[in-house]
This record gives sequence, structure tokens and C-alpha cells, in this order.
Amino acid sequence: MILKTLNLKNYRRFKEVNIEFPDGIIGVIGLNGVGKSTIFEAVAWALYGSPAARTSIDQIKRNGASPREPCRVELEFIFEGNAYKVIREMTGKTLSPSAIAFMNSKIMAQGAGAVTSFIQKTLGMDFKSFFTSVFAKQKELNALSNMNASERRPLILRMLGIDALDEVIREINIDRKTKKTLVDRLSITLLDQKTGRSKIEILSEKIKEFEKKKEDINIDISRLKEIVEGEKEEIKEISTLVDEERRNYEEINKEYQRLIEEKTRYNSYQELKKNTIEIKQRMEERNKQLETLKRKILKFQGISDEIQKTIERLEKIEEERTSLLKIIEQKKTIVKEYDKTIRELTRKRGKIEKMGPDASCPTCERILGEQYHILLEKYREEIEEKTSEEMKFQREIQIEEENYERIKKEKSALERKKEYLQQQSKEKEKLETMINQIDGEIQREKRDYMEKHRKLQQLEGVTFDPEEYKNIQEKMKESYQKYQNILKTLNRKREDLSKNRVKLEKTEGSLKLVEREINNLEEKIRELEDTKKRISSEQKETQRLNILYEIMTSFRSSLISRIRPALSEYATDFFRDLTDGKYQEIELDENYNILIYDRGKPYLINRFSGGEEDLANLCLRLAISEVITERSGGVFNLIILDEIFGSQDMIRQQNILRALNTLSSKFRQIFLITHVEELKNSMQHILYVYEDGDISKIELQ
Ligand SMILES: Nc1ncnc2c1ncn2[C@@H]1O[C@H](COP(=O)(O)OP(=O)(O)OP(=O)(O)O)[C@@H](O)[C@H]1O
Ligand SMILES: [Mg+2]
Repeated sequence: MILKTLNLKNYRRFKEVNIEFPDGIIGVIGLNGVGKSTIFEAVAWALYGSPAARTSIDQIKRNGASPREPCRVELEFIFEGNAYKVIREMTGKTLSPSAIAFMNSKIMAQGAGAVTSFIQKTLGMDFKSFFTSVFAKQKELNALSNMNASERRPLILRMLGIDALDEVIREINIDRKTKKTLVDRLSITLLDQKTGRSKIEILSEKIKEFEKKKEDINIDISRLKEIVEGEKEEIKEISTLVDEERRNYEEINKEYQRLIEEKTRYNSYQELKKNTIEIKQRMEERNKQLETLKRKILKFQGISDEIQKTIERLEKIEEERTSLLKIIEQKKTIVKEYDKTIRELTRKRGKIEKMGPDASCPTCERILGEQYHILLEKYREEIEEKTSEEMKFQREIQIEEENYERIKKEKSALERKKEYLQQQSKEKEKLETMINQIDGEIQREKRDYMEKHRKLQQLEGVTFDPEEYKNIQEKMKESYQKYQNILKTLNRKREDLSKNRVKLEKTEGSLKLVEREINNLEEKIRELEDTKKRISSEQKETQRLNILYEIMTSFRSSLISRIRPALSEYATDFFRDLTDGKYQEIELDENYNILIYDRGKPYLINRFSGGEEDLANLCLRLAISEVITERSGGVFNLIILDEIFGSQDMIRQQNILRALNTLSSKFRQIFLITHVEELKNSMQHILYVYEDGDISKIELQ
């Protein structure tokens, strides 16, 4: 892996920097806290995302950057001859992560998680392995020597990724144990708990029992089927008989119906005949009645005329009577007048007579004298005349009154006659009504008679044989009885059939139950066979796992045993170089103690100076990196060493640099992070990191 360019935006102290990485040994120089380590942390962050950062996500973005500005790292590198570019950023207030990865300008992955996965797959290591192999962290070297041996061993093994092997071995162990438990558990299920016998055996015996039962049931079924078939046949035959008998009965019934009709017609013929005679008789009687009444009514002929005449006469007589009454009244008035006049004349004559002839005239006042007798005579004559006239009138009145009486008598006689006549007229009306009624009835009966007579003519010639009728009735009864009897037999047979069918169904049902039972048992046996197979396969699998477990553990042991000498050898090479041959050998013993050979004799590291100890640690760390690099196919020609010069004197520092130079064949890029400014001149390239106000900047020198 070769780093080509790095662009940081708002990443920790850096507002915006662009770095182009050269090949060779590159010093990253700057004062404490300017951001040297940050540069490589940013590289790891671009590749692996937040887990590779040293702080939580919210502390990565530059303090002082506005929420609108993104926190962004863009890294270009070469790996196995391909050019890669990874851009990772966090945007917005929520710092939502996004990433994109290109290979030879082609998008390979998009999204924070996807890019991390892509990088892991491409480089063949996760961020932890990346740090152990490529990046020797500040303080890590001291930590290696400060540990005691029992701590160092797992750390080194972890750095070399052998702990992954441990994990695999542990999983295999769990697997084989689980499988063993499973085999034990499954084996128990094959046995009957009470008797300890094989379940398959017990179930097979049960199946045999059920098979026997099935045979018996099958015999029953075929017997019942035979019966049912026989009954069906019989029913068919009887049904034919029933049909025949029914047809026979229907035939007879038809004849019977015909006879009933004939009988009815005959009866109605007889009835009609009787009726017409009766009607005729009744009509004759009525005619007689009518004759009598007509004769009776003849007596009342002309009665209306007579009534009319009587009324007219009565009216006339009444007229006469009233005029006569008037005349009488008039004449009586005249008589009264005469009476009055006579009395006046008589009074006057008496007065004169009393006065005598010497008295003066009451009218002319002259003395009557001789006039007296003349006057008296005159009065007498006048009275006489008047009286005779009155008499005449009185006689006339008498005659008139006699007339009047006669008329009155006649009138009352006429009135009686009128009353009588009117009574006669009523009688006549009554007779007329009766005549009309009888006449109406006669007309109605006539029509009735005609109608019936017509019907009678239609029925003329109708015959009826009661003997035949009786015979048919008898025949019908017989046929009906016969029909009923066969029907009864048929129904009985049908009942038998349905009973036997139910029986058959039930038996078939129990056959199905037995078959189901057998199926269930077979299914159970199959399941048990499957379990048996499974047990055998699981047993095989367990054996395989046991073998694998053995292989893996021995592989691990051999790996560990081979790695230790390899580490010792590489570390020895570095150490010999860096100490100018002062010390010939460095060794990791079986317990992972670091031993340094001084003049052929091994000593524990604490016998040496602090600087020598640091150097030994560096050599061991470089050895570890080399082993990992070699394991990954030697393509990881990059190493970053963060503050390794801490306690080294000038000569050692120069020696380390020299040694690192010799490593250039193995590592194309070696980054040396240091705050020791003096080393500037000893390095091919310098990345100078410096503060500019609140932010940091970088310069390639
Ligand atoms: N989000 C941030 N914004 C601004 N500055 C930050 C941020 N996070 C960390 N820092 C500062 O960045 C600096 C850490 O930088 P770094 O560890 O890279 O320094 P260094 O150059 O490696 O120093 P040393 O030589 O001491 O190891 C610290 O001063 C820290 O306070
Ligand atoms: Mg640092």
C-alpha cells in the first residue's frame, strides 16, 4: 500500500490541507499537539470509519467549524497496482456519515458501511490488524516491554492475528460438544423409556396387530358389500313389480272414473227428468190459478169509469148545493127585510092610529084630518102587499129548502158509493199484482223448463250398469291392496339396505381409522429412522469436528512455535544493525520473555539501559510488522512509526534512521513521526506540521 494524496477538511485541527505523499522515509515533524498523529488517524478514518478514530464521533470535526461545513477526508492510494480513492465525510448538525470508494475511477462502494466493508475485503484486514501491522502507535513500544511475559504473549499473538485462530478453535470445540449432546439426546428418543426397548421394534409390532385387524375388517366389508348388492338387485325387481301394479291400478281406476262419470250423467238425467215433470205440474197449477184470478178481475171491469162518473156527479151536486144555499140565504135576507119593513109600517100605522085624525102630520106638520083614514088605508094596503110578497118568498124558501135536503141526501149517497167503488178498485189492483206475479213465475219456470228440457235432450240415451260399476270397484280394491303389499315389501327391503349401507360405511370408517393408525405408526417409524440417520450423520460430523479440532490446535501450536523463532530472527537482524553489532542476538523465549544476548549470554531486558530497552522493543515491533507484511504477501510496503525516538541518543537516532533505510527494500514508504526537529536533515522528505492561529497547516519540504 502506497499513500498518494490526502485532503482534510475540518478534521480535528485541520481546516483544509492537501498532502502529496512521496516515497521513501518521510519525517513528520512538528511541535507537540500540532496534529502529526492526527494525519494518520485521518487515513485510518477514511478507510475504516469512526471505529478507527481515537475519540467519539462528535469530537472529530474541527472545533470552530460551522455546522454547514462538512468534516471530510479524501485519500488516494495504490494497492496491488490499482489506484484507489476513498472519500468519507460527516455532514449537517447530526453529523450524518457518508462515504464513497473508487477503484481506477470506478465507483466500487457507496455509503459509510459499504465502503468500510469494501476496504476490509480489498486490504484483507480490519482496522485492528491495520493498526498492528502498519501503524506502530505512540507509547505502544514501551507497553510491549513494560508488560510481564504472560501479558506479552497474548498481546503479540493478538497482533499477529493468532487469536482469530483461538476463536475458531473455541467455536469448533463448542460445535463438537453441542453435537455430542445432540447425539446423546437423539439416541434417548429412539428408546422406550419404560422398557428400554427400541421404539421402532415396538411400533413395528403394533403395525402388525393393526394389519391383522385391517384384514378382518376387509372381510367384513366384502361380506357387507355382497349383501348390499343383493338387496339392491332385489329392490330393483320389486320396484318393477310396484310399477306394474301401479300401472294396473291406474288402468282400472281410469275405467272406474269413466263409470263414475257415466253414473253421474245417468243420475243427472234422472234428476232432470223428475224436475221437468215437477215444473210442468207446477206450471199447470199456476195457469189454473191465473185463470181464476182473471175471471175474478172481469167483475171489476168499468169500475174506473164509474168512479170517474161518481166523482164528476159529486162535484156537480156540490155546485148545486152551494148555489142553492146561496139563493136560500139571499131569500131569507129578503124575508127579513120584509119583516122589518112590515114591522116599521105596522108601528107607523099604530102611531097614527093612536094620534087620531086631529094630530098634525109628523112629516109635513099639517093637520091630518081626512088624510088620517087615507093614510091608515095606505099603510094597511102597503102592509098587506108587503106581507103577501113576504109570504111568496117564504114559500119559495120552503121549496128551495126541500130541494136542498134532497140534494144533500143524494150527495151522501154518492159519497158512500164512491167509497165502495174505491175499495173495489183496490181489490182489483191486488188481483192485478197477483196475476203479474204468477205470470212472472210462469215465465221463469218456462225458461227453467226449456233449459232443463234441452239438457235432457242432450243426455238422451245415457245408460249406466250398476253391476259393472260394482265389479270395477271390487277390482280396484284388490289391485290397491296388492300394490300396497308390494310397496310395503319394497320399503322394508329399502330399510334393510340403508341399515346395511350404514353398517358398511361404519366398517369402512373403522378401516380408515385403522389405516390412519398404521400410517401414523409408519410415519413415526419414518421419523425415528430419520432420527437414526441424523444421529449417524451427526456422529460423523462430530468425528470430523474432532479431527478438525485436533488439526487446528496442532496448527496453532506449530504456528506459535514457528512464529517465535521468526520474530526472534527478524528482531535480531534489526537489533544487530541498530547497535552496530554491539549485541548479536535478541530472543523471545518460550514464555515470551525478551532476552538480549551480550557476548553470547542471554539477559532479561531489565538488565539493559532505558534506551537499549526502547530499541529492543522497536526491533520487536518491526519484526512483528515484517511478519504480518510477509503473511499478507509482502504488498504492504508501508509503515508508520509514531514517536519511536523518545529516549534514544543522537547516535542511536542516526542508527535507527540508517537501519530504517536498510528497510527500504521491504517498505516503500516509512513515516517517522517525531517532534525532534534535529532529525530533519537526516531524512529524505519532511512533512512539516505547524500551528497557524487556531488551526494547523502542513508543508512538504
Ligand atoms: N476536533 C478538534 N478540533 C480542534 N482540535 C482538536 C480536535 N480534536 C483534537 N484536537 C487537538 O489536536 C491535537 C492532537 O493532535 P495530535 O495528537 O495529532 O498531536 P501530535 O502532533 O501528534 O502531538 P504529540 O507530538 O504530542 O504527539 C490536540 O492538541 C487536540 O487538543
Ligand atoms: Mg502524536
